[in-house]
Amino acid sequence: MIKQAIIPLAGLGTRLLPLTSVIPKELLPINGKPNLEYILEECIDAGIKQFIFVVPKNRPSIKKYFFNDKFYRKILKKKKNDKKLKQVFKRIKKYQKMIKFVYQNKPQGTGDAVLKCYKYLKDKYFLMLLADDLIIKKNCSKEMIALHKKTKSAIIATKKVNRNNVSRWGILGVTNKTKNSFLINEVIEKPSIKQAPSNFAIIGRYILPKKIINVLRSQKKGKGGEIHITDAIKTLIKNDEKFFGNIFKGKYVDCGTLESYINSNLKISRKN
Ligand code: G1P
Repeated sequence: MIKQAIIPLAGLGTRLLPLTSVIPKELLPINGKPNLEYILEECIDAGIKQFIFVVPKNRPSIKKYFFNDKFYRKILKKKKNDKKLKQVFKRIKKYQKMIKFVYQNKPQGTGDAVLKCYKYLKDKYFLMLLADDLIIKKNCSKEMIALHKKTKSAIIATKKVNRNNVSRWGILGVTNKTKNSFLINEVIEKPSIKQAPSNFAIIGRYILPKKIINVLRSQKKGKGGEIHITDAIKTLIKNDEKFFGNIFKGKYVDCGTLESYINSNLKISRKN
């Protein structure tokens, strides 16, 4: 069973400056709610019981967003009959019970973020989500968990992207393709058009085996001096670990740049 989800939250969000100079990108609201809450809802609906947030110690706002009981109690005292306020507090308390914090004080990559969580990983497999990749309309994590149950293997969420844009993404090599999935035989992080083995891109959802920790422990720094999860996945595939691509049915909403963030607001408000 997949019960734990790691959410790396230590990125600098430079593509969203100046907003991210005061608010972490994961707390920027989309149609009235931080994108992080969309991710949590997706996970809870897919059966996740615990979130491991990987955050820098010197950025307290994410902790404050979920752990500010004093503040809520104070206003609830004044506005005893405010039903909406009570509901908000209840929602926050529900998340609060599920969150554990792990610290990554410098953004050293998604691989390093996962490595920092090793002590808390309980089961053979766990979910990892990148919070600036929203997938709406169909629950992607749920689809991935179903494919994991069927294949007993690691899973990566994927969708076809424009061939001219492959160098923005991690790109997958495809074998044994069916309508909604395929077996991955290669991963290349941000390849040139020539290098790209397909135009199936990694979108920020992974079901990873706990044994990836051993690979990460001995992995050298990759592009940009960071420890990339993609490099560890590559090693595992070389060592015959099975990884499947889940061609998800939902709609992908990128929130990582200012332009795409504005667009995601429009797309999500149209949905509701
Ligand atoms: C990361 C991953 C990349 C993936 C992308 C999805 O890149 O390294 O493989 O395709 O997320 O959003 P980043 O967006 O951090 O550059």
